[in-house]
Amino acid sequence: MHIETLAVHAGHEVDPATGAVTPPINLSTTFQREADGSYRAGFLYSRYANPNRVALERCLAELEGGAIAATFASGSAATMTLIQTLTAGAHVILPDDAYFGTIKLARDVFGPWGLEMSLVDMTDLGAVQRAMRPNTRLIWLETPSNPLLRVCDIGAIADIAHAGGATCAVDNTWGTPVLQRPLELGADISMHATTKYLGGHSDVLGGALIFKSEGDVSQRVLAIQLSGGAVPSPFECWLTMRGIRTLPLRVHSQSASAAKLAECLEQHPRVERVHYPGLTSHAGHAVARKQMSGFGGMFSVQAGTNREQSIAIASRLKLFTQATSLGGTESLVEHRASVEGPGTRAPENLLRVSVGLEHVDDLIEDFTQALGD
Ligand SMILES: Cc1ncc(COP(=O)(O)O)c(C=O)c1O
Repeated sequence: MHIETLAVHAGHEVDPATGAVTPPINLSTTFQREADGSYRAGFLYSRYANPNRVALERCLAELEGGAIAATFASGSAATMTLIQTLTAGAHVILPDDAYFGTIKLARDVFGPWGLEMSLVDMTDLGAVQRAMRPNTRLIWLETPSNPLLRVCDIGAIADIAHAGGATCAVDNTWGTPVLQRPLELGADISMHATTKYLGGHSDVLGGALIFKSEGDVSQRVLAIQLSGGAVPSPFECWLTMRGIRTLPLRVHSQSASAAKLAECLEQHPRVERVHYPGLTSHAGHAVARKQMSGFGGMFSVQAGTNREQSIAIASRLKLFTQATSLGGTESLVEHRASVEGPGTRAPENLLRVSVGLEHVDDLIEDFTQALGD
């Protein structure tokens, strides 16, 4: 079935109790136990499972072509839960340009627990191979990466992971299941900050892990989800489901607009460099072509010669709100080095752009006026 159809139907059913076409939000934290000790619909307590969460998890598993999904209160909580399945002394390989919160989590939270970590340039397959150790349990990928939009080869790196007995997980937040299919490319787990494109309206935090098959790792994740309880609320699940219904439409539009805007900016004399995998000048273009059906709604642009000029350009934009986050209906821009702070890998003149659903000609006009002559 096509993803447009799945986005509308997966996890959705007419409410058997009322006939409601739009699912109700089940706020109850607890469910009646029958005289024989059973539970009518299998629900017992909302931290364990909830109708809205189950619907969202079914929907996500279908969207990514996975066997099972687990959802969390944020993308970071999803990442944290996967790392929590590892034991002290395990080694993980992460991209050296992964989302800075992911690196911080692995280094600052799990380092003291005994997690060993290597940061590697994942565009260099030899470097990934050399980083493997006998105790490597997880290779984490993020492609395209935040905020440099580097692209790595999911299938090739999954092969390296599997040859060494490790799991391969892909942060597919920027790719989205519409444009990139990590589980079909060989990865074991696809992760999402559903906060971004899946929710799609900048009004709900969430995270998900979707597993290609059920097994030891998925069971441990579900056990931690149940015991730790870092779960999304029923309302958050409902909002995310609502967002997902229009995901393919939004992503196709945002991706087409980002491509046009990126091409335009690449020609502008005040622009030093545009980082967008859809550009033929991008170092990862060939790999992106191979594993993505579109290049996404995110790009970064190095504009102005220094930090101050770059921030001034962002301030002159009228249609792009200066704010962090991404994947919503509105276009956003942010000076990434300011957000990430000391130790950032983002160049001082880099602006990260999340393209929204405005008409692309208006966005081009706005960027052109902000760059000046
Ligand atoms: C690629 C990527 N992964 C993970 C996250 C973390 O998601 P959350 O803010 O929902 O914890 C983000 C947030 O910006 C992100 O961009």
